[in-house]
Amino acid sequence: MEATAADHRFAEEYRLAREIPRDGLTAWRAAVAAEVALSPGALVVDVGAGTGAFASAFADWFGVRVLAVEPAAAMRALIPRTADIEALDGRAEALPVPDHCADAAWLGSVVHHIDDLRAAARELRRVLKPGAPVLIRNSFPGRCARDLRVRFFPGAERIVDGYPSVEETCAAFASAGFSRVALHAVPQESAPDLATFADRVRRDTDAKLRALDDEEFEHGMRRLRRAAAQEPDRPAVSWMDLLVLS
Ligand SMILES: C[S@@+](CC[C@H](N)C(=O)[O-])C[C@H]1O[C@@H](n2cnc3c(N)ncnc32)[C@H](O)[C@@H]1O
Repeated sequence: MEATAADHRFAEEYRLAREIPRDGLTAWRAAVAAEVALSPGALVVDVGAGTGAFASAFADWFGVRVLAVEPAAAMRALIPRTADIEALDGRAEALPVPDHCADAAWLGSVVHHIDDLRAAARELRRVLKPGAPVLIRNSFPGRCARDLRVRFFPGAERIVDGYPSVEETCAAFASAGFSRVALHAVPQESAPDLATFADRVRRDTDAKLRALDDEEFEHGMRRLRRAAAQEPDRPAVSWMDLLVLS
C-alpha cells in the first residue's frame, strides 16, 4: 500500500522521537556481541526494521549485511540505502528472504506488533541458518519498571501488560524449535539529559504513550519536567530486555 502524507509525517516524527543516538547504544552493541559472533559479511535479518536505526548500527558495528524487512512504506522509505543494507517490503509472518541464509535475526520493539507470533517463529526458523540466534529487544510485562516511559508515565506499564510475556514469546518460538538462551536487561542512554528526553517525546509515535488518556500523559510530562529541573545533569538512561533464542 502506498504511503500517505500523514504516514510520511509519522515516520519522520518516529525517527526524531524514537531513534536512540548511536552513542547511547554502547551497552546494546556489547550485549549483542556477547551473544553472537557476527563476522564482516555475515547476514542479519532485521524484522520490523522501522526507519533502519538498528540496521545501520549493525552494519557499522559488525560490518554485516542487513536485510531490513519493514511493512510500512513510509518507515521503509527512511531506511538508509547503503551497500550493506537492503530494505524489503514484508512482514514477520511472511519474510521475503531465502531459506537458511541468515546468521542472526533482530526484532527491535516489534514482538507486540506481530499478530501471529508462531507464524513469525516458523518463518525465522526457515530463514536462519541452523543454530543462528533470534535477538529480541522488547519491553515485557512485569519487567519494564526501569523503562523511563514507565517511570514517568506509570500507566504505560498497563500497556506493556498487554504485550506478549517472555513466557508467551518463548512458547511461540518453541513451537518452531527455538529454545531460550538468555534474557538480560540492557541500558541505553536515550538522551544526554532528561530535559532533552522530554523535548523529544512524541506521544503519537509510541504505543506505550499513545494509549494513555490525556490526563495520564500530561501528568507524566509534568513529572518528567520536574525531574529534569531537579537533576539537570542526569542522563536519560532507560532499560529494555534482550531475549535470545536459538
Ligand atoms: C516500534 S517500531 C520498531 C522499529 C525498529 N525496529 C526500531 O527498533 O526502531 C515497530 C515496527 O514494526 C513494524 N511492524 C508492524 N507489524 C509488523 C509485522 N507483522 N512484521 C514486521 N514488522 C511489523 C511497524 O511497521 C514498525 O515499523
